[in-house]
Amino acid sequence: MTLNSQSFIDNGRERLLEELCEFLRIPSISTLPEHKGDVLKAAEFVASSLRDVGMETVEIIAGEGHPLVYAESLEAPGKPTVLCYGHYDVQPPDPLDQWVTPPFEPTVRNGSLFARGAADDKGQMYTHIKAVEALRASGGRLPVNVKFLIEGEEEVGGEAITAYVPAHRDKLAADVALVSDTAMYAPNTPTICTALRGMVYMEWEAAGPARDLHSGLYGGTAPNAVFGLVELLAKCKDAAGVIQIPGLYESVRAPAAAEKESWRRLPFDEAEYLASEVGSTALTGEPGQSVFERTWARPTFEVHGIGGGFTGPGGKTVIPAKATAKVSIRLVPDQDPQEILRAVREFVAANTPAGIQVEVRELHSAPASMVSPDHPAIRTAAQALEEVFGQPTVFIRSGGSIPIAGDITKHLGIPTVLMGFGLPDDGLHSPNEKFSIDNYYKAIQTVSHYFELLATTNMEQA
Ligand code: BES
Ligand code: MN
Ligand code: MN
Repeated sequence: MTLNSQSFIDNGRERLLEELCEFLRIPSISTLPEHKGDVLKAAEFVASSLRDVGMETVEIIAGEGHPLVYAESLEAPGKPTVLCYGHYDVQPPDPLDQWVTPPFEPTVRNGSLFARGAADDKGQMYTHIKAVEALRASGGRLPVNVKFLIEGEEEVGGEAITAYVPAHRDKLAADVALVSDTAMYAPNTPTICTALRGMVYMEWEAAGPARDLHSGLYGGTAPNAVFGLVELLAKCKDAAGVIQIPGLYESVRAPAAAEKESWRRLPFDEAEYLASEVGSTALTGEPGQSVFERTWARPTFEVHGIGGGFTGPGGKTVIPAKATAKVSIRLVPDQDPQEILRAVREFVAANTPAGIQVEVRELHSAPASMVSPDHPAIRTAAQALEEVFGQPTVFIRSGGSIPIAGDITKHLGIPTVLMGFGLPDDGLHSPNEKFSIDNYYKAIQTVSHYFELLATTNMEQA
């Protein structure tokens, strides 16, 4: 099969790579206040790229946090509308000394482009913009109606977009949402993610005595905020890895037999996974659930960090007055974030040790997202991938979260097609993040081919 975008890619390789490098040079780290100006610069870069490829309407939507970028070209009456979502913000690059080349100086090595955001998500979302350019280069008009909604707060919970989507249902109306912010199961294995987990991210603050106390004079009577918090945390999950908070598994649905069967056919070696991906001596998690089930289809309870008391060099004999923990629960389809939060608050109230008060603060939350592999928009996506990669498409889930993915389905009533081009070892959020250059070009081809195929797809679900 020859693809219409082939000559666009062949004649544009260098330029397409250099343009992405320019985008990656902007340190758009959404969580660090000192980078607010850079995040805005990245939004402006996205907006001007959208204008450059001929999107009709392009807006930067400023709010309290980082701006959204919206664009549309509605020039295919009667044809489906695609809503492209992505994020232009990135994670902090530290530890800096572990990068082979600096995070914001994109560098090519071994067929990959190394930079913070190369795969998550600047490199991937940019392929949607370049797909529009490819289609314009070959035909002029776009075969489908296209809208873009790109955010700069995904890595910090997506506050602006979470408010924007339900308030702009008509403006965002579409037949399908397209997201490229996930990974392929393996190299050269075109992949569609049928579900992502959601999450409730919290900060727990424990208070004990009114102030830090001498641990000799008061040790034996005064409650210790750090220990109290640790005791409480230890009650949340048992040694086997089963969450002990009542109601936490209540609405969890087991994957269908056919889905589990398709996972069993994926090449997977648990010993290799333990040694080379996890890098530990044993895996944890619920007994009786496979690794795929544990990471894709079951909720988790994790502690990301604990602070409090004395942690400096040397010793200080003190009973700490305060302690905090960052805690998250990953959610699976059908779990409601607010119900889970209520269950957590009840559990905390009932299980906090005497003399300690624990306040649970919600930092952000989002439901899981799920789509049927039989939806016409998914079938067509699988076809587009197969025709570009020359391999059958596999359907997996992923344990990660994209906060808005579930809300898109909930508020706009459309499926979210998670068509990712990352690779499992891309190092998202880690030093030396990379994006395969071959996948960069194939992604542009796949997305433009998908738009062409969608023009003749009957979106009524069979
Ligand atoms: N793109 C990732 C999520 C992802 C990666 C999903 C690979 C599937 C495969 C996203 O940018 C991310 O890091 N999400 C955060 C969300 C959080 C900060 C609200 C996550 O999953 O921890
Ligand atoms: Mn991402
Ligand atoms: Mn991320």
